[in-house]
Amino acid sequence: MKSQKPKKLWGGRFTAPTDELVEEFTASINFDQRLYAEDIAGSVAHARMLGSQKIISVSDADILIAGLQQIKEEIEAGEFAFSVALEDIHMNIESRLSEVVGPEIAGRLHTGRSRNDQVALDLRLFLRHQLSRVMSLVLKLTEVLVDRSAGNLNVIMPGFTHLQQAQPVLFSHHLMAYVEMLKRDYERLADCHDRLSLSPLGSGALAGSSFPLDRQMVADELGFSGITANSLDAVSDRDGVAEALFDFSLLMVHLSRFCEELVLWSSVQFNFITLSDSFCTGSSIMPQKKNPDVPELIRGKSGRVVGSLVSLLITMKSLPLAYNKDMQEDKEPLFDALDTVVGSLRIMTTMIRELKINSDSMAEQAGAGFSTATELADYLVRKGLPFRLSHEIVGKTVSFCEQNDLLFTDLTMDQWQQFSPLFHEDLFTVLLPQDSVDAKDLFGGTALVRVLDQIKLTRQFIADRSK
Ligand code: ARG
Repeated sequence: MKSQKPKKLWGGRFTAPTDELVEEFTASINFDQRLYAEDIAGSVAHARMLGSQKIISVSDADILIAGLQQIKEEIEAGEFAFSVALEDIHMNIESRLSEVVGPEIAGRLHTGRSRNDQVALDLRLFLRHQLSRVMSLVLKLTEVLVDRSAGNLNVIMPGFTHLQQAQPVLFSHHLMAYVEMLKRDYERLADCHDRLSLSPLGSGALAGSSFPLDRQMVADELGFSGITANSLDAVSDRDGVAEALFDFSLLMVHLSRFCEELVLWSSVQFNFITLSDSFCTGSSIMPQKKNPDVPELIRGKSGRVVGSLVSLLITMKSLPLAYNKDMQEDKEPLFDALDTVVGSLRIMTTMIRELKINSDSMAEQAGAGFSTATELADYLVRKGLPFRLSHEIVGKTVSFCEQNDLLFTDLTMDQWQQFSPLFHEDLFTVLLPQDSVDAKDLFGGTALVRVLDQIKLTRQFIADRSK
């Protein structure tokens, strides 16, 4: 990009112009223009406070504020010419302010402030806003999952460990497992949001300020609950970015696990679900193909978000106090991860809403693979046998059935009793997948009553947080 040659706001001590390659290399305007609204809000609050503290005149403060509002409108109307030569969003705005209100008044805005506390403030404001946005998307997805759980309470599926059929569970119980993950994700994001509730403005470049700034007034105007306690820390702290990126990463890891299951479940082999046609694509060579691209891509994009987290952590690692230019590298991973998370949550919500559930196929497979063997072992325990012994007996029964190509339900009472005289007619009440599910009625288990409890609690969780 060819840059015009605006005056550098820091040019006083320089005699040679900045090399064009250096300008391009050091500029962040191409990505940090995304912080324009936060930057202007911060400057407006700062200007108002400077006026109220009589550090500048109230009329100058009013002129600055009006100028900043005008610039905001210009940016939103797409009329603002961002310049690489002006490096970043802070200097692009201030330089334009100089044109709008004149250099004399514009030059007073930066009193008692540095770009270091300015960018720290912008990031905090941005994160607080965006975290709330992601939180509401998490709640929406949670709500859709709860609705799908409540609407399919009679569907039984095989539960797995090691991807081998283990014990039957309610499909709703399986969905509600993801709901628990999302609830924790929500709370983590809320914690992160709360920890970002202090304003860093007034920290200056690193040492604080010698002007009688009213830091709390700025904090109040911007919706913070207090002010940061150490100027060196405040300008070099990117914990909020790191925490947000971790929270996004874990959220994406959860979505990736779910998506992996959707990919498996939509295969011919499983046939547990059918993804809506609008969420799949075909193959350019194999006419029969319907590929689960959306869950595959969410799964793939989770790696990208984890990459952003790692990138930020490595950038921050070993940085001496206080501000270092390295920290400008915090923004692109944050923006990229944020956009990926928002896109993934949105599409996931619609995909789950439109998912077709193949309950017959799930039920059929829930009964396969001797999935109620544990119930039989428990049955013998209730008749007095130690569990290890009952496990052994049922294991032998399974082996016999496998060798003779039989199911539990094919065995006669005589055959059962050859394995243990403790087997009686009442064993038929524990043999079916439904029996196994009904029996798991301890809190947190898969029995219908327990799943209904969780649905109710989660609806309350959502209601409490939707206010
Ligand atoms: N664009 C810079 C960043 O994002 C703003 C802070 C610049 N401060 C400085 N002393 N160069 O980190």
